[in-house]
Amino acid sequence: MKNLIVFITGASSGIGFSTAEFLVENGYTVIGTSRNPNKYSNFKFPLIYMDLTNENSISKAVKLVYDKYKSIDVLINNAGVSMAAPAEETDLDMLNELMKTNFYGPINVIKHVLKIMRLKNSGKIINISSIAGDNGLPFRSIYSASKAAINRFSESLRLELINTNIHCTVLSPGSIKTSIASNRLYAKVSKNSAYFSSYSNAVSDMNNHILKGVEPEKVSIKIEKLILEKKPKPHYKVGPMLEKMSSFIKFLLPQKLYEKLLANHYNLK
Ligand SMILES: NC(=O)c1ccc[n+]([C@@H]2O[C@H](COP(=O)([O-])OP(=O)(O)OC[C@H]3O[C@@H](n4cnc5c(N)ncnc54)[C@H](OP(=O)(O)O)[C@@H]3O)[C@@H](O)[C@H]2O)c1
Repeated sequence: MKNLIVFITGASSGIGFSTAEFLVENGYTVIGTSRNPNKYSNFKFPLIYMDLTNENSISKAVKLVYDKYKSIDVLINNAGVSMAAPAEETDLDMLNELMKTNFYGPINVIKHVLKIMRLKNSGKIINISSIAGDNGLPFRSIYSASKAAINRFSESLRLELINTNIHCTVLSPGSIKTSIASNRLYAKVSKNSAYFSSYSNAVSDMNNHILKGVEPEKVSIKIEKLILEKKPKPHYKVGPMLEKMSSFIKFLLPQKLYEKLLANHYNLK
C-alpha cells in the first residue's frame, strides 16, 4: 500500500501541503505541484510546475511524473482558488480564471492521469470540492457553482468508470484554516454599489469562518482514509460539524426557512 505514487495538485500551501507532508511521513511517494515551485525549499516532497489555467503545463507535469515514476496511483485534485463578488458585479476575467482553475483545469488533469491509470486498470481520483458546492452561498456564486460543477462531473465519471478498478470520489471540506482567504479573488465593490454593506459583512464573515476553521491536518487524515478505502463512496465531507450537517439540514427544512437561516448566518438582513 505504502509504495503508492500520489500526485497532488496545489501542494505549496494549505490542504495540499499538509496532505503531501502527511502522506510522505506515512510512507507514500508524493509529487506536488505549484505555479512557483522555485519559491519553496526544504519540502519533504518534490514540487513541480503546473498552472491549471495553462493546458500545456498540465500535460507536461503529468508526463514528467509518469516518465520518472512510471505510475500515478492516486490523484488528489486539490489546487483551487476562492472568489468573492456580487454576482451582478462579477468581472468576466475573474470568472474565467476561477472556472479554469476550479473546473476546466482539474478535468484536464483527470483526462491525462486517467490514461496512465488505465494502463494498470487501477487508481484513485480524489477531487477536493467544497461544502460551498452544496449551497449557493451569497457573494460566492461562481465559487459555489464551480464546486457544484466538479461534484456533478465526478458523479458522471464514476458511472463511466464503473467497470474498471479506477475509483473517483469527492471530498468536500468546510472551513479549513489555510491561506484560502488571502489567496481569494476579490471583486472591487465601490462604496456606491448597492451591495457595498452586505458584501463587506459577508466577506468579513467568510474570512472569520476560515480563521475559526479546522486544521488542514484533519483533511489530510481523511484523505489517507479515502486512499485506503477499497471502493469509496461518491461524496465525503470534512470540517466543522454544523457545516458538514448543512446539506442534511437543507434537505430536511422547507426551502424558504433554510434560505432565511443562510441569510441570517451571513448578516444579510
Ligand atoms: N480552506 C478552506 O476552507 C476550503 C474549504 C473548502 C474547499 N477548499 C478547497 O481546498 C482546496 C485547497 O485550498 P486551500 O484551502 O489549501 O487553499 P490555499 O492554501 O490557497 O492553497 C491553494 C493551492 O492551490 C494552488 N493553486 C491556486 N491556483 C492555481 C492554479 N491556477 N494552478 C495551479 N495551482 C493553483 C496554490 O499553489 P500555487 O499558488 O503555489 O500555484 C496552492 O497550493 C481548494 O480546491 C479549495 O477550493 C478549501
